[in-house]
Amino acid sequence: MSEKPTAALFWDKLAAKYAKKPVPDEAIYQRKLQLTQHFLSASDVVLEFGCGTGSTALVHAPKVERIDATDISPAMIAIAKERAQAANISNVSFEVGELEDFKLKADSYDAVLGLNIMHLIQSPANTLREVHRILKADGIFISSTPLLKNEPIFVRWIIKVMQALGRAPHINFLTKDEYLKQVTDTGFEPVQAWMPDKTSVFLIARKAVIKI
Ligand SMILES: C[S@@+](CC[C@H](N)C(=O)[O-])C[C@H]1O[C@@H](n2cnc3c(N)ncnc32)[C@H](O)[C@@H]1O
Repeated sequence: MSEKPTAALFWDKLAAKYAKKPVPDEAIYQRKLQLTQHFLSASDVVLEFGCGTGSTALVHAPKVERIDATDISPAMIAIAKERAQAANISNVSFEVGELEDFKLKADSYDAVLGLNIMHLIQSPANTLREVHRILKADGIFISSTPLLKNEPIFVRWIIKVMQALGRAPHINFLTKDEYLKQVTDTGFEPVQAWMPDKTSVFLIARKAVIKI
């Protein structure tokens, strides 16, 4: 079986539980929402990939023109659609797939959100290139990324054992500097890099405009 269906299956199994789980730290979550909305405006067209059960997209939806939200897991997307309907929010679409599957138009989004996802995808470099391609000039990429290389060795060891048992997904073990290098190498300029704790970074980066 290829990696994509395996990952989708993994997250499908977690979806119902994930939907019920409260955010680990409400104050940090609220600060991330606030920082994000500082960079959004009412006319913005936004894309979120790896949106999970859609809760963050639904918070931002009233502040923007439209959000296209995507996730590899059909079960996550089914919950997200139910939530949108229950909240009577109609300017968010939820679709199943990986970012690259959608063949999105170049230069078409004002902002792209990748929240708790960049440590999970197979090729962060490919995804970053795609984010850069679909953003308008000066568009904003906002990501919240676990830095699992900063975790103590025993935590990394447990993750590896879980992976060997098929109970953890593919994971990129990154430090802040390694992640920032990948982002800047793709042609983004960091605007703000906030570490709410030692093991994650909330990064706001702008698509760099090439000046001739
Ligand atoms: C840790 S959850 C984060 C969900 C949401 N962004 C949040 O912050 O609550 C990771 C999500 O990424 C999705 N995912 C994993 N690999 C993916 C991929 N390659 N492409 C798109 N979504 C993926 C999973 O299905 C899951 O919903």
